[in-house]
Amino acid sequence: MKVLVTGGAGYIGSHTTVSLIENGFDVVVVDNFSNSKEKVLERLKTITNKEIKCYKVDCCDYEELRKVFVNEQIDAVIHFAGYKAVGESVRLPLMYYQNNLDSLLTTVKLMLEFKVNNLVFSSSATVYGKPKSVPIYEDFPLSVTNPYGRTKLMIEEILADVTKANSFFKVAILRYFNPIGAHESGLLGEDPEGIPNNLMPYITQVCIGKLPKINVFGNDYDTIDGTGVRDYIHVMDLAYGHVLALNKLSSSKDNYLVYNLGTGKGTSVLELINAMQEVVNKPIPYEIVERRPGDIDCCYANCDKAFNELGFKAKYNIHDMCETSWNFQVKNPKGIL
Ligand code: UFG
Repeated sequence: MKVLVTGGAGYIGSHTTVSLIENGFDVVVVDNFSNSKEKVLERLKTITNKEIKCYKVDCCDYEELRKVFVNEQIDAVIHFAGYKAVGESVRLPLMYYQNNLDSLLTTVKLMLEFKVNNLVFSSSATVYGKPKSVPIYEDFPLSVTNPYGRTKLMIEEILADVTKANSFFKVAILRYFNPIGAHESGLLGEDPEGIPNNLMPYITQVCIGKLPKINVFGNDYDTIDGTGVRDYIHVMDLAYGHVLALNKLSSSKDNYLVYNLGTGKGTSVLELINAMQEVVNKPIPYEIVERRPGDIDCCYANCDKAFNELGFKAKYNIHDMCETSWNFQVKNPKGIL
């Protein structure tokens, strides 16, 4: 089975590519490298011992993406290609709507044209907004607080409409919680441009001395120690979730499936910093600062549906996540060059 992975050079896309190849799939990558490095392809080859075909194409470009569908006998698509920075989306909403929606629409249009009927879409727990309670179940009400989140929710709704209109077209929506960690080789990992927005890359950059201290956004939340609680999931566990979702799609009668991918466990900011301190074996400087606007207290998944229907169960713990994130940072002090 040949899988087209859009955004396959990105953080989650590259790890998913590894998992797909390990599980016997052929992979074709499409990436415009707007937020990833071409070097990732070489690294994928080192890890998998396979030459991975990659097209440098923007998924919004119908003519160019069409050539990929003409050249390759694609059986399924995993769609990652999209912008993902919450703060940037608030500043540049049009850019987010234009890129994230167009990239999805163009891909799906071509899938219908070429009768490629299985799609896995990279969504986010951000679609739950401020959840009424935790853990979060897939049938909780959906709402969003920023343009990035809205693109995810709009795409989920678009895909629901497309599956209603085309009973042969099957979609699995995967709502990721907080992916961290890296491939054990240290060759792949999260490689943000500039100052990281997310907690884990910020922590590793403080540990390596690139940044002076972690700013902990608020310690007056209604959580175990007052700091924000999230469901961190190892990116390799998340990657394997895509393999399971593809397998499920081929056998499922239902053509619109939605799954949370998390661990079901919440970890606070201070707990994550402590776990990393054990890995790096030294104190990590941090300071409590104001809350970050838009943040919620607590967000973790109920993962029963993914377990019961996909057989998905995260196998890596917080220590593994810290260890592999740190290994990637040490091996790539200036990012992937
Ligand atoms: N945090 C800090 N300091 C930092 C960065 C983050 O204290 O420098 C805290 C946040 O307040 C939050 C936790 O660390 O409590 C995690 O923050 P992240 O920015 O790493 O992750 P978020 O949960 O805010 O957002 C992530 C993704 C979004 C996605 C969302 C889904 O970045 O794309 O999870 O729940 F939508």
